[in-house]
Amino acid sequence: MITKTKRLILRPWVEADAEECYRYAKDPDVGLPAGWQPHTSVEYSRMIINSVLSKPETYAIVLKETGLPIGNIALRFHSDLAEFDDECEIGYWLGKPYWGQGIMPEAATELIRRAFEDLGLQRVWGGYYDGNEKSKRVQEKCGLKHMWTSENVPVPDLGEFRVGHVNCITKKEWQEQRISRFENILDELSAAVKDLDFALEAYEKLKPRLNELKEYYESSLWRKDFEDDGAGRLPKDLKRGVLSEDAVYDLLDNIKELEIRGKNVF
Ligand SMILES: CC(C)(COP(=O)(O)OP(=O)(O)OC[C@H]1O[C@@H](n2cnc3c(N)ncnc32)[C@H](O)[C@@H]1OP(=O)(O)O)[C@@H](O)C(=O)NCCC(=O)NCCS
Repeated sequence: MITKTKRLILRPWVEADAEECYRYAKDPDVGLPAGWQPHTSVEYSRMIINSVLSKPETYAIVLKETGLPIGNIALRFHSDLAEFDDECEIGYWLGKPYWGQGIMPEAATELIRRAFEDLGLQRVWGGYYDGNEKSKRVQEKCGLKHMWTSENVPVPDLGEFRVGHVNCITKKEWQEQRISRFENILDELSAAVKDLDFALEAYEKLKPRLNELKEYYESSLWRKDFEDDGAGRLPKDLKRGVLSEDAVYDLLDNIKELEIRGKNVF
């Protein structure tokens, strides 16, 4: 499978990636927090590409801008955490020069979507070792919730024991979080465009959120959420605005008016 996000392409690793893989995976700051030894040569990276990185649902994270791989993301099946057939565990690493730009949350959001939507799984697990705040944040941003913490978790590759934290998200939580999130975006946008005098400035700021909302409406996810709502499969405390076509048409009408005004003003 090859999939794209705003800035990234996720595609299977190939042997020719060995040099780029080594460039980032030789850094101890990348491997050690994740529990594996830094790569020692391009040859070693090639061997890892042909073994670990050729497993199912394992993807090179390729930057669209350069066409080169900068990290890895994978769904692992029948791992320590993902015991059952309808579960998986997410794992990832990223080249250090690319840290702090939200790249992993972008890749992980897409792979979690794939786990639930394309692969029909019910649960995505994520683990990180104590002190790995960066990985903790990625999992939080993707909606995974803390389940438990274990002392003395073996790290076989490094021959040591660490404290391990375990997070998880279910398909239901993923759907509910998405709907709540878009409800909030819709509310925010609707409130902003109501007061047309202030709205132009607010609208400019909120445009990226509007685009997100539009993408959601055009995706198969909205259709699925809409159908689940109609069939009574969603919790009662969710507001229905984002799942009603009327609310969106109202918003788009207001925005059209704003845009016309904008043209008159500028
Ligand atoms: C964990 C990792 C994938 C995060 O990817 P990322 O794309 O940088 O993720 P984000 O941009 O969302 O940043 C996550 C957090 O890292 C911290 N961070 C970001 N850039 C940083 C930098 N240059 N130096 C130190 N910390 C930084 C921030 O706290 C950020 O959280 P915030 O957005 O709430 O401030 C990456 O740090 C990595 O590959 N680490 C080594 C391998 C690893 O630990 N893998 C996970 C094993 S469980």
